[in-house]
Amino acid sequence: MPKWDADQYLRFGEERTQPARDLVGRIEVAHPRRIIDLGCGPGNSTAVLRRRWPEAEIIGVDSSREMIEAATDAHPEGTWVWADAGAWSANDPFDIVASNAALHWVPDHAGLFPHLLAQVAPGGVLAVQMPAHHRFQLHHLIREVADDPQWRDLLQGARNAMTRETPTFYFDLLEPLTSRLSIWETDYYQVLESPRAMVEWFKSTGLRPYLEALEDDPQRLRFEERLAEAFARSVPPRQDGRVLFAFPRLFILATPHASSGRPKP
Ligand SMILES: C[S@@+](CC[C@H](N)C(=O)[O-])C[C@H]1O[C@@H](n2cnc3c(N)ncnc32)[C@H](O)[C@@H]1O
Repeated sequence: MPKWDADQYLRFGEERTQPARDLVGRIEVAHPRRIIDLGCGPGNSTAVLRRRWPEAEIIGVDSSREMIEAATDAHPEGTWVWADAGAWSANDPFDIVASNAALHWVPDHAGLFPHLLAQVAPGGVLAVQMPAHHRFQLHHLIREVADDPQWRDLLQGARNAMTRETPTFYFDLLEPLTSRLSIWETDYYQVLESPRAMVEWFKSTGLRPYLEALEDDPQRLRFEERLAEAFARSVPPRQDGRVLFAFPRLFILATPHASSGRPKP
């Protein structure tokens, strides 16, 4: 698993946290007692949950030691657990199983999502946001640049590191298991200083597997330059030289059937 850099990630912390606010704003669970945030990162999405439900027991889980350390430093009063969300099961069910911008790093969503739904208490909700990779132009560009013969073999694993499922995939999977299901997508328009800044944006997230798989710094630099050129062609700068790009995100709110959820302890 490539390392995460909490400082680089939080360079765009405000923009990255807005989808968490929008996800949490749509949750309709009256008085959740127990909430878990899977892939909590440096604790920014967990803080959004905490602000809405200050009385609830909230646990943040992440598989990166660096992120768990950053979350503990920023919110020493919180409960932070170092664990793999893909292998996680609840001892007692949670009223809200939340995950913002993390589950696309976990494989096999056909198995994962029904499993996570089964960790939700009756009347509770599984609440997930992920990049909508299936229609994300810049994600496709990254994969195209990675397909160049000069590094294609090295980057084979990285090209397949993240899931790219469609809304209909999640509908077909979850509809039979839920009493209530909402799926929607939103494009978040980001303004950045230049096409090179777009590379910086992705460096702490989607580019990590690629950069880690490349051989050395000169090769990494060449890859980043090729990417900046591809971004500049695809997202031409505005009059002032800055760039405006659409980041599509997929949201899912799923309430399990009373019979399929787990009983409250
Ligand atoms: C893009 S950050 C999202 C952080 C935060 N939730 C937010 O809303 O900004 C993705 C996080 O998912 C974590 N992650 C990736 N794979 C994971 C896994 N299998 N289990 C738990 N966490 C994982 C990473 O360590 C990283 O902290």
